[in-house]
Amino acid sequence: MHYALISDIHANLPALRAVLADIDARSDVDAIYHLGDLTGYAPWPNEVVDLLRDRAIPGISGNYDSTVATDYKHCGCRAETPRDEELSHLSFEWTRSHVTPETKEYLGSLPFRVDIRPLGGHVSGPTITLVHGNQTLNTVYVSEDRSDSFLERMASDIGARAGDVVCFGHTHKPWGRTLGGVQFINSGSVGRPKDGDWRACYVLLTTDQSGASAEFVRVPYDVDQAANAIRESDLPNEFAEVLKSGGASPAMAHR
Ligand SMILES: [Fe+2]
Repeated sequence: MHYALISDIHANLPALRAVLADIDARSDVDAIYHLGDLTGYAPWPNEVVDLLRDRAIPGISGNYDSTVATDYKHCGCRAETPRDEELSHLSFEWTRSHVTPETKEYLGSLPFRVDIRPLGGHVSGPTITLVHGNQTLNTVYVSEDRSDSFLERMASDIGARAGDVVCFGHTHKPWGRTLGGVQFINSGSVGRPKDGDWRACYVLLTTDQSGASAEFVRVPYDVDQAANAIRESDLPNEFAEVLKSGGASPAMAHR
């Protein structure tokens, strides 16, 4: 089976369209899943949700999805400076005031975790677990500098065994590590990468009875269109710079 995993789209419609076109052009992808954070920071929250619904792409709840859906006091994003905190609130309030009731209902309907068993569990083969942050909270940052013991506990809490795959997002920086036969894959971000590469990122996951292999794919898209749309909206202009620099600009780069 060939899966495409798309995470952290963050209301960036041009990036999502480019990624879906890249996936469609491959013609061998059996299923697409999203890993949450569909809204926030860019001006197309409803269009992104509508496109995913039109394409019947299932997925899980990121922190931005569950906090918008429940009118929580904060998006659950980490801020390291007072200005970042201010920007975070501006994005959250903009998004909350622009999502339609239908979008909000969809965001609230997303499950926290999805387990995929390509072979039905009837014969040996990998279980693929999708979460946004970790197995407990969708706000926990599982970044590349996490220790082996942190990841081993994560695998244990999830119930992952050798051969299984644990996929997540949230940090907007793609990476992978294998520990005790369990593959940990951070699928990066479609619409707001933070690793210094502005191109949209997604993961192709191939599975068979012998295991799974992952490939990180980068897709150029019309980042100027997205940046200009941010500047023309009431969203802070800093968010345009984050997109154009792949998160290398100082404002909000950690989120
Ligand atoms: Fe995110």
